[in-house]
Amino acid sequence: MRRRADAVPRGVYLGTPVYVERAEGTVIEDVDGNCFIDLAGGIGCLNIGHRPPAVVEAIRSQADRYMHTCFQVLPYESYVRLAERLNQLVPGNFPKKTFLVNSGAEAVENAVKIARAYTRRPAIIAFEDAFHGRTMMTLSLTSKTHPYKEGFEPFPGDVYRIPYAYCYRCSYSLKYPDCEVYCAKHLEDTFKRVVAAESVAAVIAEPVLGEGGFVNPPPEFFKIIVDICHRHGILFIADEVQTGFGRTGALFACERYGIEPDLLAAAKSLGGGLPIGAVTGRAEVMDAPGPGGLGGTFGGNPVCCEAALAVLDTFDRNDLFALANQLGDRFQQCARKWQAQWPQIGDVRGLGAMQAMEFVKSRESREPAADEVKQIIQHCYEHGLIVLSAGTYGNVIRLLMPLNIEDNQFEEALSVLESAIASVLGAGRELALHGA
Ligand SMILES: Cc1ncc(COP(=O)(O)O)c(C=O)c1O
Repeated sequence: MRRRADAVPRGVYLGTPVYVERAEGTVIEDVDGNCFIDLAGGIGCLNIGHRPPAVVEAIRSQADRYMHTCFQVLPYESYVRLAERLNQLVPGNFPKKTFLVNSGAEAVENAVKIARAYTRRPAIIAFEDAFHGRTMMTLSLTSKTHPYKEGFEPFPGDVYRIPYAYCYRCSYSLKYPDCEVYCAKHLEDTFKRVVAAESVAAVIAEPVLGEGGFVNPPPEFFKIIVDICHRHGILFIADEVQTGFGRTGALFACERYGIEPDLLAAAKSLGGGLPIGAVTGRAEVMDAPGPGGLGGTFGGNPVCCEAALAVLDTFDRNDLFALANQLGDRFQQCARKWQAQWPQIGDVRGLGAMQAMEFVKSRESREPAADEVKQIIQHCYEHGLIVLSAGTYGNVIRLLMPLNIEDNQFEEALSVLESAIASVLGAGRELALHGA
């Protein structure tokens, strides 16, 4: 830790002071021989766990042949095969093309470039509480100010922000379903009061907020947004960097909402632990930038392509979506019980295995309880469980377990989480009723 402080800038966040020795499946062993159940998955990159054997084998065998040529200099077949697979798998009953990159932010950056090249319009509409990455354009799209944006201004312009369907903290103080999803319909009003529809290239959204707190909008929300977009010749970009590859109980969360995005950005769990991202979209849209307009030295590296193909094979061979939904149901069962016990658990929500709890000081005030969340997470790692916070207010605990986590490991994780909550919040309902 001392050497880290001397060698690495303080801006690089430190989640847990645990140095990793090895990892397998859901378990991490540290350099001192301690074992941890990992419900963070390197921030959602390990939907099929650490070192899935098929992925390790694919990486080894590719490393034995060649590791880098740059696809634009000397192409290789695995890039094309991965593009073909993603074109088939991404929702949308139309011809598609795929461009491969290194990360989620790079996928989002390129989705924006492609949308602008196709529409010849400048503006992008993003949502409150969105997270799209840390490069300058993606920071412009990202909502949370501290610590992501503060001090790094100015950002690229022509980005406009509208409220997300965050029902627990509705920006319009309305209640679903009586609201009739006003927040989605309000997009039309944005074209009159904020930015002309004719100037908008794309609306970008995470189908479920990731860093923003695992907020899953009501079922109609995205259909309304996509319809409005298409009425005005605006593209809809789905940022599935965190929701992708089975996390929500379908390969892509767009399927859960019954929508077909014009462009979809993917990364994280696509690589099974290696860095790779993708933009997949309507063929005519993807072809808008001219030859040489898209590229990058390492994008779609052959080792990463083989890893991603092995990840997709794993989804083909196993019903991981059913497992995701079972995990989600089991968590909801526990978390609802905890919510009855601890009034500080204001909201329990999620889609498939993308599950979270939002902590508040009291149910009435809904004041975020970020310190309590920090303490719960600390208690967890001191007791062998790695979990992550989320949310604009840092008061959400989110779960990103492998979809193939073993039952006994998940039960153990839930029981550590329960004792962490009890240790920080006290015995629960009775104490709370007595004002403790
Ligand atoms: C929804 C979403 N988009 C984009 C990104 C950025 O991805 P990366 O960190 O790979 O650049 C993230 C990362 O957490 C994300 O959750």
